Amino acid sequence: MREVDATSDVTLELDDIQAGALYERPSPYVGTYLLLCIRDQAEGRELVRRLHRIANPAGSPDTPDDTSVTVAFTYHGLEALGVPQESLDSFAPEFKEGMAARATALGDVGESAPDQWEKPLGSNEVHVAIAVLSSDQSHLDALAEKARAAQAELPGVELIWRQDCYQLATGRTSFGFKDGIGQPAVEGSGRSPTNPRELPLKAGEIVLGYPDESGELPPMPTPDVLGRNGTYVVFRKLHTKVAAYRSYLRERAATRAEEERLGAKMVGRWQSGAPLALSPDADTPDLGSDPQRNNDFGFADDPRGFKCPVGAHARRANPRDALDHEGSVDVRLHRMLRRGTSYGPMLPDGVLEDDGLDRGIMFVFAGAHLKRQFEFVKTQWLNDGIFIGAPLESDPLVGPHHEETSFTIPQRPIRRRLQGLPPFVVTRGGEYCFAPSLSALRWLAELDT
Ligand code: HEM
Repeated sequence: MREVDATSDVTLELDDIQAGALYERPSPYVGTYLLLCIRDQAEGRELVRRLHRIANPAGSPDTPDDTSVTVAFTYHGLEALGVPQESLDSFAPEFKEGMAARATALGDVGESAPDQWEKPLGSNEVHVAIAVLSSDQSHLDALAEKARAAQAELPGVELIWRQDCYQLATGRTSFGFKDGIGQPAVEGSGRSPTNPRELPLKAGEIVLGYPDESGELPPMPTPDVLGRNGTYVVFRKLHTKVAAYRSYLRERAATRAEEERLGAKMVGRWQSGAPLALSPDADTPDLGSDPQRNNDFGFADDPRGFKCPVGAHARRANPRDALDHEGSVDVRLHRMLRRGTSYGPMLPDGVLEDDGLDRGIMFVFAGAHLKRQFEFVKTQWLNDGIFIGAPLESDPLVGPHHEETSFTIPQRPIRRRLQGLPPFVVTRGGEYCFAPSLSALRWLAELDT
């Protein structure tokens, strides 16, 4: 089915694009990520044939908001399936290298370094990544079972890792903040922008085979049937040090209200999701939960960051109109779809002691450009402070902090500077994947090399 978006003249082949790569997950959701290793090529192709039957196209009327199965491959996975070398060579260089090889550039050092990662993340054994998400536990179990069954009768394909995830009814993640609000719209997807000030992105920013913001077709793997309607997907398991984060704030705040304010300044939104840009002085839960209003803002009227600090996580990750001046970077070239989910039990409210349990976010990126989207935002905007004129500052919430890392909160009469931020997020591992189209899944299953 070809669907035309009323807001654009782009026709996305929605029947051929995997729903999970293009559309928002349900909310609330439950989900499971499965990683598989292909030890036998013929059985690997048989697995892909079976997965092709359960992966959902974005064009299907009943799946996107409820249940979806998304299938993606690493470079080594495509290699294990016997994809011809000239085709493997045509993928993006970062994808070919894999996430572990990009660790130093990404700031995955020290306790986030690949030699500390959870096994088998970052190893050449990770071939196929499957994400199953649903609004309903019984649907999830049924589908995850189908995905496991697709593999279970194939001894040449091994299930090597599984991670369950879920969303609280409040939509909040382990640090206490509502997540998944700021997202761009994509031309031709049929979904309207939640930020009316941001035009939908050209389809080629997210899906391969269509013009992107530069007006060009992004580099696409060959042959066409393999690349077209596919997208790159990044997943990262990010452990969050919630007790350390709470203690850090508690030591610097005289009251609970001040603690909340400092946390909101770090994120750029209050815990409810209300943006500081619209509600700078206090949380406004009505605003946070209103999808018509909670993403309708810019930063142009707050250049110095008195409302939302220029170093706040969400402002770094999407400076919106703050960089709209001559010679500045084009923010639209660095947008991404995020499909992150929460894992692990929440630390009960008010607890400041670490209970030793693993909790955090499965961060998921989807986009057509690994380098200028995911890697650019991570390295230039989150890990570095040069673009905001503060070279020693990195993202206060998710940055790879070192001893001197500080965070500046512009305020009158004098700014406040939080010093010695410890790292609050540790990378447990991840991978660069490619989520092919439905027709590419068929092509992979039928390879006869
Ligand atoms: C454990 C790690 C992380 C946590 C806890 C976290 C948390 C958050 C929160 C609370 C928000 C604001 C709510 C929203 O707009 O959805 C947000 C926004 C965002 N984050 Fe993160 N994040 C993490 C890692 C990352 C990483 C690694 C990236 C990119 C490389 C990233 C990119 C973004 C983007 C693009 C936005 C939306 C900004 C906007 O459009 O306003 N985040 N994040």
